[in-house]
Amino acid sequence: MSLGTQIFSSDSITQLAPAEVSLTDVSKAFGSGPDRVEVLHNINVTAAPGEILAILGPSGCGKSTLLRLVAGLETATSGSVCVDGHLVTGIDAQCSVVFQEPRLLPWRTVAKNVQLGVRDSGTSGEIQAWLELVGLGDFGGYLPKQISGGMAQRAALARALIGHPGVLLLDEPFAALDALTRMQMQDLLVEVKERIGTTVLLVTHDVDEALYLADRIIVLGERGQGIVETISIESPRPRDRSDTSTIPLRRELLRLFGVHV
Ligand SMILES: Nc1ncnc2c1ncn2[C@@H]1O[C@H](COP(=O)(O)OP(=O)(O)OP(=O)(O)O)[C@@H](O)[C@H]1O
Ligand SMILES: [Mg+2]
Repeated sequence: MSLGTQIFSSDSITQLAPAEVSLTDVSKAFGSGPDRVEVLHNINVTAAPGEILAILGPSGCGKSTLLRLVAGLETATSGSVCVDGHLVTGIDAQCSVVFQEPRLLPWRTVAKNVQLGVRDSGTSGEIQAWLELVGLGDFGGYLPKQISGGMAQRAALARALIGHPGVLLLDEPFAALDALTRMQMQDLLVEVKERIGTTVLLVTHDVDEALYLADRIIVLGERGQGIVETISIESPRPRDRSDTSTIPLRRELLRLFGVHV
């Protein structure tokens, strides 16, 4: 599916200024005394402005916690988290988050849900432009229960982007979707990213998704182990899903997760 015509016909959507995200010696523990558990240990990573950085790792290793630290929803136990050189001390408009479930308010229309992402309410033209950007140009008046899961996730993406974030934080945003819809959403992300700029931190369990989308992949080990592997992918987007040159990387990543290849 191509949304190119719709995307480039809109004047209301401008390039965002992508921000750098840097984590320096970041550790995060929950609990205290004998119940203290260190989830993230000594994380050092910088996402360059405009980069798509994928974060892979086993369940419970701290991927969502890492995103929450960048979003200002959690505070590091030690170390520093900076967005564009500024220490993250709380929730900031620079960062927007999309979760696995769309979290739309059921009593608001799709357009009114997207409007929630912008501080000054936004003009109807602006909201419509973002709806068109994500392929929902004709669905602004629908209620969440009247649209599919994939469409709801498109709305969540528009709501996240309308506030012009320098950083888009995606926590397994396509994991609940069927395989085909997931691939369409991945393509949408590539198109949107190309159109608007922004830095993307993408948490995913899906090795193929990471290889298809990311400039760089970091792999977290078991809880508290920190980053165990970093892989750069040079090929430009949009990528070819049948490209065989990524097979060795795929094999390496799957082996890291103990999958027989
Ligand atoms: N607020 C909290 N209080 C106590 N423990 C927490 C809190 N948030 C997360 N944890 C613990 O931190 C660990 C990492 O959680 P996190 O949600 O970051 O993992 P994850 O890698 O995103 O897992 P999944 O792949 O299943 O989504 C888990 O053991 C979780 O129970
Ligand atoms: Mg998680």
